[in-house]
Amino acid sequence: MANTDLTIVILAAGKGTRLKSALAKVLHRAGGRPLVEHVVRACQPLKPREIVAVVGYQAGDVNAALAPLGIKSALQEPQRGTGHAMLVARRAISSRAKFAILLPGDAPLIRTETLAALARAHRESGAAATILSAEIENPAGYGRIVRQGDGSVAAIVEDSALTGEQRAIREINSSIYCFTLEKLWPCLAALKPQNVHKELYLTDAIAVLRGKGETVQAVLASDPDEVLGCNTRADLAAVDSVFRRRKRAAIMDAGVTIELPETVLIDPEVAVGADTRIEPCVQLLGKTRIGSGCTIRTGSILSDAVLEDNVLVKPYTIVSASHLSRGTQVGPFAHLRDGARLEDNARVGNFVEVKKSVLGEGVKSMHLTYLGDARIGAGTNIGAGTITCNYDGVNKNPTTIGKRVFIGSDTALVAPVRVGDGAYIGAGSVITKNVPPDALGVARGHQVNKPGWAAARRRELAAGKQPAKSRARKRSQRRPKRKR
Ligand code: UD1
Ligand code: MG
Repeated sequence: MANTDLTIVILAAGKGTRLKSALAKVLHRAGGRPLVEHVVRACQPLKPREIVAVVGYQAGDVNAALAPLGIKSALQEPQRGTGHAMLVARRAISSRAKFAILLPGDAPLIRTETLAALARAHRESGAAATILSAEIENPAGYGRIVRQGDGSVAAIVEDSALTGEQRAIREINSSIYCFTLEKLWPCLAALKPQNVHKELYLTDAIAVLRGKGETVQAVLASDPDEVLGCNTRADLAAVDSVFRRRKRAAIMDAGVTIELPETVLIDPEVAVGADTRIEPCVQLLGKTRIGSGCTIRTGSILSDAVLEDNVLVKPYTIVSASHLSRGTQVGPFAHLRDGARLEDNARVGNFVEVKKSVLGEGVKSMHLTYLGDARIGAGTNIGAGTITCNYDGVNKNPTTIGKRVFIGSDTALVAPVRVGDGAYIGAGSVITKNVPPDALGVARGHQVNKPGWAAARRRELAAGKQPAKSRARKRSQRRPKRKR
């Protein structure tokens, strides 16, 4: 159901000085996405009137990251604090909105359900402001909720302004609030930059509201992890690990076994089918999709990969933007990169690299091989050390190999070149011309056998003579005698 009287404002204009980074804070990534994208995605299901992001520092880059998400933005220049940011957002807020959820772009773990509960609690109470608070073990750095004797909220006090007694308070301000807008606007106009940073703090609006006799409530988040902010690199790591844990839990819920789950990294858009087994130290990245009954063995990294059912990825294999059909097996130490496609039951073994190539059903390429820009028909066997020489220094050229072909070991296929169905290539060949179907292609130097040569050499060595070859070489190296 749409919330037509609700607007949502995301504060994303700050630099993030404490990260010591050239990149704006909200563009730093955790859980596989920029921080601010997580926040937007948590807000969208509430269907508010609008979502407004306040941008400022590196506004162009932040807007570019937000553009695909289809939200509004308001430029805060210069950035004069969280209270000032909300004043800037006002321009983009519809006059029809009665309530606003305000949240920082650097607290990405917040969930839609928690925001919905916050808005509900706010509407039901009739308060002017509802603060989402949390009790956390180490509240250092956060603003604290200061309550009166009767338990009602008196103010939010920033960490830098705490008295000794207040420092013991463990209930923190998440910086996520729901406000009744007609009550908030006059308070923002009254804010003064009375702090070390000379900024307008939104948090000061709470005391202003209380001074006017308005009700302010704070509701505790049931899961304190949800409000973790990312001000430092250590915060980013802590938040990332919560995202990763959540994603692994969801994947395991879907019927997937993960061994030593804390060592496995899975991006948010990855999907894995039931009865797949994931071994330790695996990374599943991007839009990777894995079917049922697969095994992803240790140390493998899959990004934007599609695996159908019953695929076996052996240890330390890299698969990027490639498609592995049913029953295929790859690795150990294989590298399948952009546009590799293995049809059913094809197999690729150790130290084999495949790029923009289709390996037909049941094709085997088990050892030390490079296949680039190649099409290989069903049932073909690629011998150890085969190289498709696809690059001539200017262009990439195709290699086409038919069905049931046998490519002998250490073959170089100089593209463009075609090998017909059922052909046979002798080991060690450099194939520069097309090979017709069912033919034998051999392209290598003829072998010469010299009977008894080795035995004769051994006899010479035993007799203390130099072998015939080195005597000849010495002679040729001697300078010609000068004529008298
Ligand atoms: C803020 C709160 C603090 C709370 C904490 C929770 C204030 C004054 N303090 O502190 O009580 O415990 O969040 O994480 O609000 N921003 C702008 N424009 C500005 C300044 C900031 O858009 O001019 C944005 C930042 O990009 C950030 C958010 O507002 O996304 C919060 O700013 P930040 O500097 O991180 O505030 P904290 O010190 O974390
Ligand atoms: Mg912060």
